[in-house]
Amino acid sequence: MPTQRKGRPLVQLAKLVEDVPVKVVIDDVTLLVLKHLGEVRVTQGVCTHRGACLAAGALAGHILTCPRHGWDYDVRSGESPSIEGEGIAMFESWTNEETGAVEVNWTQVLAWQTGRAYAFETL
Ligand code: FES
Repeated sequence: MPTQRKGRPLVQLAKLVEDVPVKVVIDDVTLLVLKHLGEVRVTQGVCTHRGACLAAGALAGHILTCPRHGWDYDVRSGESPSIEGEGIAMFESWTNEETGAVEVNWTQVLAWQTGRAYAFETL
């Protein structure tokens, strides 16, 4: 059975600045949108440690460091380079060619939010 893909718009692609994280809140879910190396990435927007806003973190190379206690995450994979097994959720995203908006796979976000197991579809 094919996986459903429902997009929700987050931000206009033209407004993203390379390596400047943007916080987006939709339906009480905080996400982070980042253009890095020319690619848009969408991750959970809060730190897995104690929930600080990751958009306020510092990006050095591929590593985003939480502003509160310094946990760090590789924005290419979501994995922490310094804490084994730790990481942030990353979500499929794309640019809507008609509107220019970056959209996120809302089905993935909801699955993550509810803690349900989810089989990610390879596109
Ligand atoms: S809340 Fe991010 S490191 Fe503690």
